[in-house]
Formats: sequence, C-alpha cells, structure tokens
Amino acid sequence: MSVRPGAGVVAGAAPRATGAGDGVAAPLVVGVFASGGGTNLQALIDRVDPAVARIGLVLADRPDAYALERGRAAGARPVVIPVAGRDEDEVAAETLAALRDAGVGLIALAGYIRLVPPAVVRCYAGRILNIHPALLPGFGGKGMFGHHVHEAVLAARCRVSGPTVHLVDEQYDRGPIVAQWPVPVHDGDTAETLAARVLRVEHLLYPAVVEAAARALAAGGDVTSLRCRYPAAFAAAAEPDAAGVRAALGLS
Ligand code: GRF
Repeated sequence: MSVRPGAGVVAGAAPRATGAGDGVAAPLVVGVFASGGGTNLQALIDRVDPAVARIGLVLADRPDAYALERGRAAGARPVVIPVAGRDEDEVAAETLAALRDAGVGLIALAGYIRLVPPAVVRCYAGRILNIHPALLPGFGGKGMFGHHVHEAVLAARCRVSGPTVHLVDEQYDRGPIVAQWPVPVHDGDTAETLAARVLRVEHLLYPAVVEAAARALAAGGDVTSLRCRYPAAFAAAAEPDAAGVRAALGLS
C-alpha cells in the first residue's frame, strides 16, 4: 500500500467532523494488537478519554486471546489474524485491510508477541506504539516477553526496572522511546512480584501516552515528537494515581 493513514486512505485516521457540519471532531480510532489477556487493553478502554480516542479494533494472532473478549465487551471489532507459518505478505494484506475497514488511525500493541509486518509499519509509520515491561533498550528483543523479561532483570540484579512506551519499527522492542517509568526492584522479588508491580504502572502509563498521542494526531502533529519527561518527582511513589502520572510526564 502506498498511501499512508494520515493521507486519508484509512477512514478515521485523522479526526473528522461528525454529524452535519457540527464541527465536532470525532475521536481517533485506535487499533489494539494483543496475544494474551489484555489487561493493558482494558486499561486503555477504561482510562483513555473517549472523546479523544476510542478502541475500534482488537486484533489478535490467536482466537483464544482473552483480549478479544475485552474488546468485544467494549464495542471494538474483534479480528483474528494468525501469523505462525504464514506468508508475511498475506498477513500484512489482511492486517491492513482490517485496519482500513475499522478506520484505525493509531495502533497500540498491548502484549502482542508477533513482529508487526514491515508493510504495516511503513503504512503506519510513527503511528504504532508498544508497551514493554522493562526499561529499554535493555531486556528487549525476540523472546523477551512475559516472565522472561522479569527473570532477566532479576538475574542481572537490577535495582530498577519499569515500563517503556516506544514507537514501533521493524524490529522487536526497538524504535524511539516515548515514556518510561522507574519501578524499584525489591530484595526477594520473584518474576511474579516484579511483574505485578510493573504492570500496575503500565496500566497508568499506557493510557496517558496513548491519549496524548491521539491528541497530538488530532492537532495535526505527530507522535514522533512526543517525548515525556522523566517522572523524577513521582518516581518514589509506589502507587502513583492517574492524574499524578499525567502530571509527572508533562501530559496534563
Ligand atoms: C505487558 O507486560 C506488556 O508490557 C507486554 O506484554 C504484557 C501484556 O500484558 N508487552 P496484558 O495482556 O496487557 O495483561
């Protein structure tokens, strides 16, 4: 595909006026890609301002991904596009068709363990975000998902970990970093206890960044220029709240 979402080939890629000339911008449609339970998807559903962005599509690579149920319950279109053992061009074509049909203008990966096909990355350049449960560029790359990430952090005896939100390119967990939030590693942590501490912050960080990205696109800007502050003043807070996260990142 040669035309990009911003150029209008994807209906809804840019916020449009709704109704008969009422001048009210429609929320940006977000497509969420997931492979698993989708608690980050749920956080986006619950916490992103629906006037700014709505989750219109949930795309999974497996039919038993619980994220599909969460999406369905929230009125998003569930789509399953298997990847394993399939031709990359075919996967890309199906993915782009699903994105176009749902009018997706911004993609948020939320526990999607597949590589986004290069054709999709090119078509949605600067419009794909991912959340990773460690401080990139460490502890990322192929095979670094779920408990593997937290086990590697503990094996390296890190004192700090935490989620990273970044723009997606054609490799796993690479691409410019948009936001990070430091989370302490405690003595005696297991992969499970650390994962739970990081995940609580993911559920606050990702909605704040996805909403800010949607606002930037609605204002005619782009996500590549979005770079959140280091949340120094709030980093010590074990349980930051949603307003505190936005304020610390400079997004409020
Ligand atoms: C999260 O830890 C996220 O950082 C990573 O995959 C996990 C997905 O968890 N990319 P969930 O499905 O959102 O609960």
